[in-house]
Amino acid sequence: MKQHKWGLIILGLAIFAIGITFPFWYGKGKPAAPPELSLDTPAIAALTEKRCVEDTAFMRANHMKLLQAWRDESVREGLRHYTAKDGRVFEKSLTGSCIRCHENKEQFCDRCHNYVDASPSCFDCHVVPGEVKK
Ligand code: HEC
Ligand code: HEC
Ligand code: HEC
Repeated sequence: MKQHKWGLIILGLAIFAIGITFPFWYGKGKPAAPPELSLDTPAIAALTEKRCVEDTAFMRANHMKLLQAWRDESVREGLRHYTAKDGRVFEKSLTGSCIRCHENKEQFCDRCHNYVDASPSCFDCHVVPGEVKK
């Protein structure tokens, strides 16, 4: 009887241990590879400093807000130029700025968007030079 009780306690502890460590070992050996983003375009190769419009962390987190602001300011208010924090001036344009540098949209924008399962509808209207519509 006594032995039986110990067995149950140990079994209980084992289940508890598996339970609390589950998040650490589950998924081991199948990491989701982050997307490989290509910066290999002539426009980027020609830059003396490999910089985006704003710094990388800002762009990663805020490019959607930046683009929406650009669209509104450009189309509604006619303000067509954006001055970056470091003083460089860019045309507030999806294809004229972003895609001018990130011309390889499929190896850059699309790869990341596919990874996070986002599908901006912008390119239903904004045509990327050289890209075939599906
Ligand atoms: C229904 C069609 C349509 C969709 C969808 C659309 N746009 Fe536009 N967009 C336009 C038109 C038309 C203009 C005006 C073109 C101009 O002023 O030269 C424009 C202008 C812009 C401009 C300023 C001019 C330029 O050259 O880019 C930006 C920036 C822009 N859109 C961003 C976006 C973004 C970002 C999205 C997706 C979130 C988007 N648009 C979705 C039709 C569209
Ligand atoms: C002058 C050329 C140029 C323009 C214009 C440009 N980019 Fe970039 N972008 C770059 C370069 C170069 C990098 C890489 C910077 C780095 O590695 O630190 C980059 C990085 C990025 C990143 C971060 C990628 C990552 O590693 O997470 C995003 C997102 C991005 N760009 C989106 C955009 C969008 C959206 C636009 C238009 C609003 C734009 N870029 C306009 C050159 C440009
Ligand atoms: C480092 C990853 C990454 C890269 C590179 C990237 N994006 Fe994004 N993008 C995202 C994420 C994450 C979202 C937000 C998705 C959501 O909120 O569902 C997003 C959203 C957007 C949106 C907003 C969509 C909407 O309907 O409002 C636009 C516009 C956009 N990206 C344009 C671009 C363009 C243009 C490029 C290439 C020049 C680009 N992105 C490159 C990660 C990326």
